[in-house]
Amino acid sequence: MRVLYKAYLVCVIIGMFGVIYFDPSGNVISSYLHLIINRFKTCEIHSPLSDEYVYTDNNTWRILWYDIPVYLKKAVTYFEIHGQKCENVSLQCIISTDSSEIMRSNVVVFSESTLPKCPPFKRTSQIWCLNTMENGNFTTWPTEVWEKSFDWIMSYRRDAHVTRPYGKILKLDKSNDRNYPDVFRQKTKFGVWMSSHCPTPSRREEYITQLQKYIQVDTFGKCGQNTCGVQNPSMNECLKNFARDYKFYFSFENNICRDYSTEKVFNLYEHNLSVIPVVNGPPQVTDYLPRGTFINALDFTSPESLAKKLTEIGSSENLYTQYLKEKDKYFSLNGLDIFRESMCTICRKLDHMKGINRTIKASNAHVIKMYKTEC
Ligand SMILES: *[C@@H]1O[C@H](CO)[C@@H](O)[C@H](O)[C@H]1NC(C)=O
Ligand SMILES: *[C@@H]1O[C@H](CO)[C@@H](O)[C@H](O)[C@H]1NC(C)=O
Ligand SMILES: *[C@@H]1O[C@H](CO)[C@@H](O)[C@H](O)[C@H]1NC(C)=O
Ligand SMILES: *[C@@H]1O[C@H](CO)[C@@H](O)[C@H](O)[C@H]1NC(C)=O
Ligand SMILES: *[C@@H]1O[C@H](CO)[C@@H](O)[C@H](O)[C@H]1NC(C)=O
Repeated sequence: MRVLYKAYLVCVIIGMFGVIYFDPSGNVISSYLHLIINRFKTCEIHSPLSDEYVYTDNNTWRILWYDIPVYLKKAVTYFEIHGQKCENVSLQCIISTDSSEIMRSNVVVFSESTLPKCPPFKRTSQIWCLNTMENGNFTTWPTEVWEKSFDWIMSYRRDAHVTRPYGKILKLDKSNDRNYPDVFRQKTKFGVWMSSHCPTPSRREEYITQLQKYIQVDTFGKCGQNTCGVQNPSMNECLKNFARDYKFYFSFENNICRDYSTEKVFNLYEHNLSVIPVVNGPPQVTDYLPRGTFINALDFTSPESLAKKLTEIGSSENLYTQYLKEKDKYFSLNGLDIFRESMCTICRKLDHMKGINRTIKASNAHVIKMYKTEC
């Protein structure tokens, strides 16, 4: 321990000299010092500030998204423009992204990815909500000083207090129509898999290698043999070409967890792509993806038996297009609308509680524990 500490100090001192040399103005130095101070700072534990009344101004509930991650700002703007009206509430909600408004806010949402080291003050009437979009294995859980602060959890899971999934399948009023024989004829390639993270707890990479003994699966991305050319954010161009040329798109998640299906699969529904998704679970996926529109590898005892089934479907125009026709009855909501829906879920819960005019129950630590231990 002492040796480590000494090594740390030596690094800090060497780093300081380096910084002084290259940064005479001292801007970097102060942020550097800040980092060091933070490293050793221990958090004071504040007991919540007692509320006499539930705070509202202008007859609106205020939801504060504390230290909002940059990529969500667009969704907040979208909520402001299209979403002010949530259904079934007596008072509407506004979203604030100004962390200094914390004392005026009824709900405070914290993102797992931008959680400050130490919790700020909390009012007893406030609801604090932790948002994580990752599965348990990939979430940086809050330290103990935080755990007791959270009342709700927002996640892709359907049993979360506030569900914010990666997609939501809805039926189209009028099915998409295509020239199915043409679509089938254009598909000269068999399977495609694109991934940038490996190895993974789901061992998807091993599964794909096994499959390749029996069927052609072209691999793209950091974990694959090919690059798709076009970089983000225009990933859609890639997907469009895949959907035109390939029969099956392997949408394998990094972990097989309850309700954990990401944009990998929902993209195929959202962007009207005529390709059949093959997913690697989870078991309850049929609760939110319509049957007959995808194939679940978990339903098969081995990669070999899955390969056999895919070969059967892929070599029959009739069987194959049945899947496509079924899939063409649905679409997926986009991220902005889903964000709006989850904010309205918060708004409704808050509104039905008429704010929260009481001391919040001793602890909701079990909420976090459940998500920590269960995948
Ligand atoms: C909350 O409690 C205070 C004091 O007990 C009371 O005056 C107030 O009407 C209550 N209700 C709300 C919604 O604040
Ligand atoms: C209340 O609403 C009015 C008009 O919409 C606005 O000008 C004012 O800034 C609001 N007050 C607060 C405290 O948000
Ligand atoms: C609003 O309430 C109506 C009637 O109870 C219900 O049918 C509808 O599903 C509710 N909408 C939402 C978004 O909760
Ligand atoms: C989906 O694509 C098909 C074929 O290109 C087209 O006919 C249909 O209108 C599209 N549907 C939507 C909702 O964009
Ligand atoms: C992490 O992944 C492994 C392997 O899939 C699993 O056994 C374990 O329960 C996971 N842990 C969490 C916290 O999700």
